[in-house]
Amino acid sequence: MKTVACYSIKGGVGKTASAVNFSYWSAHQGHRTLLIDLDAQGASSFYFRVRNPSKKNWAKRFFKTYEQLLDQIKQSDFNQLDILPAHHSFRHFDTLLAEHGGKTNRLRKVLKGLAVHYDVVIFDCPPSISLLAENIFAAADLISVPMIPTTLSQRTFGQLLDFFDQQGYSQDRIRPFFTLADGRKQLHRDTAATLRKAYPLFLEQAIPHSTYVEKMGLHQAPIDLFAHNSQANRCYQALWQEIASALNLNHPSS
Ligand SMILES: Nc1ncnc2c1ncn2[C@@H]1O[C@H](COP(=O)(O)OP(=O)(O)OP(=O)(O)O)[C@@H](O)[C@H]1O
Ligand SMILES: [Mg+2]
Repeated sequence: MKTVACYSIKGGVGKTASAVNFSYWSAHQGHRTLLIDLDAQGASSFYFRVRNPSKKNWAKRFFKTYEQLLDQIKQSDFNQLDILPAHHSFRHFDTLLAEHGGKTNRLRKVLKGLAVHYDVVIFDCPPSISLLAENIFAAADLISVPMIPTTLSQRTFGQLLDFFDQQGYSQDRIRPFFTLADGRKQLHRDTAATLRKAYPLFLEQAIPHSTYVEKMGLHQAPIDLFAHNSQANRCYQALWQEIASALNLNHPSS
């Protein structure tokens, strides 16, 4: 089982849009895929038309046993794609993790039991660098970081690299990619070029600014469903392919 986080310290950069399209393409390739919506906002659950569970204080039990996770998993409208929807109690994840000794391996541990059920697990993460984020860093084989090519994004990305350095984590799993990229803007082009030079692990494929990404909310669906021939759709498919290759995820039918 391979785990991919869609993560950034920054909000509104395309984590959810990426998690939804990555999950779709992973399942489309034939991998048994689970999308875990870790963000109390529940945006990726919404995109896949999956209702949030009504369970009280669900976050309190989330890290206890994988059987409880299995119990909350819902099928999506797509073959091979299941969703573990968000819950409003997920906003307490950091407090709850702190109360249990601030351990950073709880997510990794509880997911172990899912390995017989899934080939790929994708996390849609909330925007913060917190105890939950540290659990995500410990659990993820690859941390995909959508990044708008601007100065502030560059600064925030530097903070993430520094954090990994301070904690003694290996930075190799951090794979950023450009999103909301506008090739007509000199600043975007220059920042992208500088960053690619400074950080060789950037994924090649960028996601352009696209109205079809914005329309995912309207259609409550991955882009392929309503804009198959769009550039944004091709870019997401290619970006997922790059991630799958980086993880040595072979095509199940090949
Ligand atoms: N490539 C893109 N082109 C145009 N709009 C985009 C693109 N990527 C994301 N958006 C839009 O930007 C907004 C934020 O995107 P999204 O929800 O995926 O970001 P996020 O990082 O998950 O945000 P949050 O931190 O709130 O969870 C949404 O309205 C989305 O439609
Ligand atoms: Mg989001």
